[in-house]
Amino acid sequence: MNNKTLGVGIIGCGNISWAYLTLAKKFNHIEVKAVADMNMAAAEERAKEFGVKAQTVKELLKNDDIQIVVNLTVPAVHYKVSKQILDAGKHVYSEKPLTLSYKDALALQKYAAKKKLRVGSAPDTFLGASHQQARKAIDDGVIGKVVSGTCHFMGPGMEMWHPNPDFFFNPGGGPVLDMGPYYITNLVNLIGPVKRVSALAGTGRKTRTISNGPRNGEVLKVKVPTTYHALLEFANGASITLGLSWDVWAHKHQNMELYGQTGAMFVPDPNFFGGDVILATQGNLPEAMKAWDHPFGVKNWGMKNSQTDVIWANYRGAGLADMADAIIKKRHARCDVSLVAHVVEVMTAIMEAGKSRKVLTLKSTCKRPIPLGPDEARALMK
Ligand SMILES: NC(=O)c1ccc[n+]([C@@H]2O[C@H](COP(=O)([O-])OP(=O)(O)OC[C@H]3O[C@@H](n4cnc5c(N)ncnc54)[C@H](O)[C@@H]3O)[C@@H](O)[C@H]2O)c1
Repeated sequence: MNNKTLGVGIIGCGNISWAYLTLAKKFNHIEVKAVADMNMAAAEERAKEFGVKAQTVKELLKNDDIQIVVNLTVPAVHYKVSKQILDAGKHVYSEKPLTLSYKDALALQKYAAKKKLRVGSAPDTFLGASHQQARKAIDDGVIGKVVSGTCHFMGPGMEMWHPNPDFFFNPGGGPVLDMGPYYITNLVNLIGPVKRVSALAGTGRKTRTISNGPRNGEVLKVKVPTTYHALLEFANGASITLGLSWDVWAHKHQNMELYGQTGAMFVPDPNFFGGDVILATQGNLPEAMKAWDHPFGVKNWGMKNSQTDVIWANYRGAGLADMADAIIKKRHARCDVSLVAHVVEVMTAIMEAGKSRKVLTLKSTCKRPIPLGPDEARALMK
């Protein structure tokens, strides 16, 4: 076993940083050394909570103990901050979306290759037990070749739970860039790259009222479409409907249904690592597959600071640990920029098609990420 560990720095100490700092301790090959934020008070709070150093962004980028920097800033500055990290000679692991344009994703990919550095990005939920079990079943031909499917992520919005939801409703926000990464990345994991897309888009409400935290009651202008119905044609010939909306109070659609030549599969929410994979093979009623013994399916997560009510499997950071392992072993990382840049192109093409109402052919393609079976997942954990 290779016990080498890479030093990790985090830029962006907002909402999701708590999960990263908590879960990073569970993984091999990574150790968080310092955190930074343009709001020094936010960095100091996280540093104190987790016993790491608080630094300015400049100091963190010069810190010789750090080889990988995790970019947890807001999407509008993801490209700028990731470019700064590469400029400083460090590997980047970004939260989603990697960038807001395919051009920027490609620029990061090329710049990193020139500097012999890695760029990786969330989501890593497709490495979860359920999605990997679904992947294995598809690869084993359990439902035959996937020919079509439907995916839905629909809810009333983000202003209900996020204390600073501005970025969701500004350019760079919207449900495609926010939730699309989970669905599209998992579809690529399951059936391969996308070839063409089309979409219709709309905005359900012109304003949103924050209904949580210190800014409760503040009204925000909605500057992006909040409902998309997209059609995706995959390189394997499959056609998939993808509905992403923050204008829906209730619905009864499954997160992800895949229809194969000899059966159907219901895949759980790709925003999570766990959940039941349900199979209906030719002539049989749908039935949950027996969950396999995969470490990224074990429930370990409840509400913040709660030691009880452990209701989810949450292994955010698995993609980061896999990238560290890949750097050490000089192998391809599962959340590598080649996959992520393709997903950025799919998302931005959906948004473009939402405006133009055209069917767009993509320029990029990618390989499916290599599967992460139970033993390989176990090896990433302490
Ligand atoms: N909140 C979640 O549950 C969640 C889940 C999954 C992914 N994400 C993704 O994680 C990212 C961060 O989300 P969040 O909810 O933590 O946002 P947030 O607004 O709570 O935190 C972002 C932090 O980044 C800092 N920041 C912004 N620009 C900066 C810059 N140029 N330099 C240094 N610091 C800067 C801000 O001061 C803030 O503290 C987003 O890309 C989001 O899509 C969030």
